[in-house]
Amino acid sequence: MSLAVVYSRAQTGIDAPLVTVEVHLANGLPGMSIVGLPEAAVRESKDRVRSAILNSRFEFPAKRITINLAPADLPKEGGRFDLPIAVGILAASGQIPSERLEGYEFVGELALTGELRVIRGSLTVAAQAKASQRGIFVPKGNADEAAFSGHSAILAASHFLEVSAHLAGETLLPAHQITLSAPGRPQLPDLRDIRGQHQAKRALEIAAAGGHSLLLIGPPGSGKTMLATRLPGILPDMNDDEALEAAAVQSISDRGFSPTTWKQRPFRAPHHTASGVALVGGTSHPRPGEISLAHHGVLFLDELPEFDRRVLEVLREPLESGQITISRAARHADFPARFQLVAAMNPCPCGYHGDPSGLCRCTPDRVRQYHSRLSGPLLDRIDMHVEVPAVPKEVLLQPKGEGESSQVVRTRVARARKQQWQRSNCYNYGLSNEQLDKHCSLEKDARELLEKALDRLNLSARSYHRTLKIARTIADLSNEEIIAKSHVAEAIQYRSLDRQM
Ligand SMILES: Nc1ncnc2c1ncn2[C@@H]1O[C@H](COP(=O)(O)OP(=O)(O)O)[C@@H](O)[C@H]1O
Ligand SMILES: [Mg+2]
Ligand SMILES: [Zn+2]
Repeated sequence: MSLAVVYSRAQTGIDAPLVTVEVHLANGLPGMSIVGLPEAAVRESKDRVRSAILNSRFEFPAKRITINLAPADLPKEGGRFDLPIAVGILAASGQIPSERLEGYEFVGELALTGELRVIRGSLTVAAQAKASQRGIFVPKGNADEAAFSGHSAILAASHFLEVSAHLAGETLLPAHQITLSAPGRPQLPDLRDIRGQHQAKRALEIAAAGGHSLLLIGPPGSGKTMLATRLPGILPDMNDDEALEAAAVQSISDRGFSPTTWKQRPFRAPHHTASGVALVGGTSHPRPGEISLAHHGVLFLDELPEFDRRVLEVLREPLESGQITISRAARHADFPARFQLVAAMNPCPCGYHGDPSGLCRCTPDRVRQYHSRLSGPLLDRIDMHVEVPAVPKEVLLQPKGEGESSQVVRTRVARARKQQWQRSNCYNYGLSNEQLDKHCSLEKDARELLEKALDRLNLSARSYHRTLKIARTIADLSNEEIIAKSHVAEAIQYRSLDRQM
């Protein structure tokens, strides 16, 4: 036997497509060539594989070795294919049996000593190996992460010898087990910490219930950041699929996957100096950016007008589609980015416009200029605008714990979301115009109010639809199918920027 076929997996976006590693031995001038990997990766891989084989006391065949990684056009990072290549060389040269290879997949980088080094993205690899019903060999350091896929045949090895011993039937590796003890809800900041600010808290609840994006406008110190950080705590738990997707994004990021965050809704707050690549993702091997790390969670953009306009423009695509396509040269990768946007800003450059203190000396021109730094098209996609005035001292001094806890609010939010899902298979933020027509029955006086507001505030068609969506969510929170006048009246309040423009 001089041909061996070994399965492995590449990484594109959060996908891990199958790669077939074919190893062919022929008589001729000894040497090794690898087809289907970038040149630099090939050189390094050759050295590691050769050395690891020799250091594991196997023979490195004195043959012409040709290795083909197919499909050729799939972008591949080098290291992870060391293990399948080494296994293939041993099998093709008859040093280990090759009959059972078909039932397995292999990923792992080899050290010169034969030790196995961790790779990025093992969670997705394991999830897809599971779907293909093949066992998967991973470096020991990746085993816990891989186990979150729920795969019951993960074989964790710390050295190449353990892999070869298993395949030879000498010493079998046990399937890696971890107990997925749901870590329980972590201590998230609670709504109860916020004094006063009833309107803003109500807006936060509506945003949570309908998945609406939210812009908080208020002077420094009024509690905008406090509010934003409390959104994850009033969102219902992620289901298993959502948790797996969120973890898969983490798993291919530079930071890697952290089991302690399993099932926690992410909260990402990139600084306004963040580059486009940091926010959206990119670089030569595509990596997820902040918006993807916020998948199924919250993206908080504080000081929104300070962000680079071009960077903000890029958010339009994921806000509509829930994903982002990163293109580089001829290649592209899709990353999920279904985040809930919360943004915050001051009302004017000094921050105190409209404050009773009268501190603000900004001219109307400067205030307008400040607002115009926001990209119109992005602003157009923000469902709710909420003013967060400074809280009077007396209120700040009130004892803590007066208001509702996050848990109580979360229960209401969860019920409203369930209702939306049953009605339209999406949350209200995602209702199409046709769905809006179908699912938003208004009482007569509610319709009249909405039409009057349209005229008087000169709302765009887009604003009109936004208002209707929010009214739908408000009605859902009070468990009513028909939208009433009070629901519309409240919804109109959350479009305050429509009035100023
Ligand atoms: N409504 C409030 N209830 C309790 N504390 C508040 C409130 N608003 C502000 N604070 C206090 O002021 C600090 C600053 O609030 P923060 O949310 O950072 O304001 P902003 O983001 O609007 O500048 C908080 O850490 C908190 O101690
Ligand atoms: Mg703040
Ligand atoms: Zn000002």
